[in-house]
Amino acid sequence: MTNRYAVVLAAGQGTRMKSKLYKVLHPVCGKPMVQHVVDQLNTLDLKELITVVGFGAEKVQDQLGEDSHYVIQEEQLGTGHAVLQAEDILADKEGTTVVVCGDTPLLTGKTLQNLLDQHDVQNAKATILTAHAEDPTGYGRVIRGGNGQVERIVEQKDASEEEQAIQEINTGTYCFDNAALFEALKNVSNDNVQGEYYLPDVIEILKDQSEIVGAYQTPHFSESLGVNDRVALSKAEKLMKQRINEHHMRSGVTIVDPDQTYIGPDVTIGQDVVIYPGCVIEGETQISDDAVVGPHSTIKDCHIGKETVVKQSVAANSRIGERVQIGPFAHIRPQSSLGDDVKVGNFVEVKKATFGNGSKASHLSYIGDADVGSGVNIGCGTITVNYDGENKHLTTIENDAFIGCNSNLIAPVTVGEGAYVAAGSTINEDVPAEALSIARSRQTNKEGYASKMKSIKKD
Ligand code: UD1
Ligand code: MG
Repeated sequence: MTNRYAVVLAAGQGTRMKSKLYKVLHPVCGKPMVQHVVDQLNTLDLKELITVVGFGAEKVQDQLGEDSHYVIQEEQLGTGHAVLQAEDILADKEGTTVVVCGDTPLLTGKTLQNLLDQHDVQNAKATILTAHAEDPTGYGRVIRGGNGQVERIVEQKDASEEEQAIQEINTGTYCFDNAALFEALKNVSNDNVQGEYYLPDVIEILKDQSEIVGAYQTPHFSESLGVNDRVALSKAEKLMKQRINEHHMRSGVTIVDPDQTYIGPDVTIGQDVVIYPGCVIEGETQISDDAVVGPHSTIKDCHIGKETVVKQSVAANSRIGERVQIGPFAHIRPQSSLGDDVKVGNFVEVKKATFGNGSKASHLSYIGDADVGSGVNIGCGTITVNYDGENKHLTTIENDAFIGCNSNLIAPVTVGEGAYVAAGSTINEDVPAEALSIARSRQTNKEGYASKMKSIKKD
């Protein structure tokens, strides 16, 4: 097999987005567009991937990290000029280069593979990925000659009325023979309405040199959606959401209302999981078999164990065990780890805390910076007082301890194994194992107080 390279075009500002965020960093289903593109390219057996950056270069580099090499396009003079920035790296390397725009997040590795296969079979110097568009507005149109061969691409702004009626569009994805690409790029001019060096002009140049130029038309127009503005961004979101949700449903996940369920592309979900409407599940979240999520839960970067139920709650960057019950209205904040059979009930916030198996905080509590053993019962309204205004401190609650309702545990503090804390206590000293600690003022009853007050009022 010939060596394969890829160039991702991501230097444009994306003026039409009217955004402070650079276009290719706008997320689709929670993942920046350019990351979608790079992840799909990485399913091909590439020797090297190069991203052309310009506007927001650092931010794009921060996002892609070591997934890519980078070249800088100082001035955005067009897509042809952008590819030319990779000349030093690629021109003398024998092989095929795939060029993809960073604003086509729906493109799949499978379609790229089909494009490359056709390119190889036809022994072409260039093969362009095209699609049939119901509404081709904004895209470059594919002009074919009498014999059906691709002749050239004409941009919307340069197209005659007749050309604008053509519905076959340039998806902005191509593969080229390296040497032919960089040779042809030298001859691309900026003599067009936008005064830019257009990459698609390479097609006509190669054609005029009687080189083999092919086109592979994907039947999936949606894959070619180029996001230039926020209307297209919302279309991309909808299509990606549909693709992701259908994948999960076909793999054995019940999604009660797929239109109202937002799952990121890197989420994995086990068999017979049920997802109720209004959920946003993102990042590297893994949900194990038979779990139930939602309605209305937001989960990011969590591992959720089998048969766990998460109702109307928010969880981030945490591990949640098996048969755990979360919510309704619980908040599991980052770096928490809940064992099996744990319960975190309504209006409970957990932050950077571990819960051993079978421990429960069923109502109205804040458990932050805490190490909770197994079999612990945390009564309603318990607060770990973790912050002294400058530093955070740890609360340790050992196995089988019982914390009475409305207790404050002023950290750093330890409640020993099997100990009891009486309801309403403010604990600022360690409680020994098996002890009962009562830290509240004693109750005094004033006999006959009410009638005394009433008689004072009468006078
Ligand atoms: C481009 C194609 C068009 C195709 C469409 C598909 C050209 C001239 N036109 O148009 O035929 O139908 O994509 O979506 O190529 N970029 C740079 N440097 C630049 C200019 C652009 O890196 O100097 C990057 C942008 O960041 C973007 C990509 O190239 O990711 C495409 O640029 P964009 O302005 O979106 O081109 P379109 O008008 O969509
Ligand atoms: Mg575009």
